[in-house]
Amino acid sequence: MNLPSRVQLIDVGPRDGLQNEKQPVPAAVKIELVHRLQAAGLCEIEVTSFVSPKWVPQMADNAEVMAGITRLPNVRYSVLTPNLQGFQASVTSKPDEIVVFGAASEAFSQKNINCSIAESIERFAPVVEAALAAGIAVRGAMSCTVGCPYEGDIAPERVAYLAGLMKSIGVQRVDVADTIGVGTPLKVQEAIEATLQHFEVAHVSGHFHDTYGQALSNTLAALQMGVWNFQSSVAGLGGCPYAKGATGNVATEDVVYMLHGMGIETGIDLDALIDAGAFISDFLGRPSGSRVARAVISKRNNS
Ligand code: HMG
Ligand code: MG
Repeated sequence: MNLPSRVQLIDVGPRDGLQNEKQPVPAAVKIELVHRLQAAGLCEIEVTSFVSPKWVPQMADNAEVMAGITRLPNVRYSVLTPNLQGFQASVTSKPDEIVVFGAASEAFSQKNINCSIAESIERFAPVVEAALAAGIAVRGAMSCTVGCPYEGDIAPERVAYLAGLMKSIGVQRVDVADTIGVGTPLKVQEAIEATLQHFEVAHVSGHFHDTYGQALSNTLAALQMGVWNFQSSVAGLGGCPYAKGATGNVATEDVVYMLHGMGIETGIDLDALIDAGAFISDFLGRPSGSRVARAVISKRNNS
């Protein structure tokens, strides 16, 4: 076992968490959520995406949200940009990092960004070049690294292929995403192993949806390989509109509780994080998707 002593979490709640919400979430609520996350100690927050508002209406207020955030100097604010148009629209918002997002599955690539894997890389290349020239960091999200809602199981070779393409265009770090949460620990380890053919472990992060309740086990499996970057959503929010049936990301509260229990530092104040999750869950009018948050809130109410 090669467990890290410290883990860096990216909370993707404001973006992945809210993009799939049917009810409009006002920009002011998204901004407040970001403020609460950074107050809880999150050093990386995925805020929004500069995608087509016809495809994802919930993210149409991207520039307004970015402009409304009171930034902290030690926090990295990232945004998704699928093409040059999205990148150019994001520049005035001064993201610290942009995220190009591809898939290990051809069918998902088509459904999510309306092009093949090869075409997506052609689109991303000028985005990556422009971002790096402007001093903006570049991350690459790799969807469907273990399973696809349209193609079923995805072989690790497909992940290695995509990771190699991401590397070849200058992407600096990548997310190994289980978009529909079907992965189990050994399969996730294979996807990470495939990614490690092209990226060093410090530049690989885990992004596990929790649809089948495997996300914490998958996080532990990745930790055992030395991975120390993970994405999660406060209150377990999340889902992709183009991956039907997929539920939220692993809840940040649950990951933090597990890590702290293992003696691994995150720099996050769990109580403040639970309050951030309660804020957004109350707004959405449903209980938190975090088991830890529900347990702590119930304990608070009973004491
Ligand atoms: P397209 O229709 O092929 O684009 O969509 P197009 O270039 O042909 O342009 C068509 C129209 O879209 C034009 O407008 C463009 O201006 C506009 P019109 O002339 O019809 O009025 N357009 C844009 N508008 C705003 N921002 C842009 C943009 N680009 C074109 N950037 C496109 C291609 C990529 C735009 C579309 O498929 C899209 O927006 N997809 C985004 C889907 C998405 O956001 N999915 C969720 C995020 S990924 C995810 O959740 C997975 C992740 O969490 C990891 C995991 O869990 O797997 C990251
Ligand atoms: Mg996701």
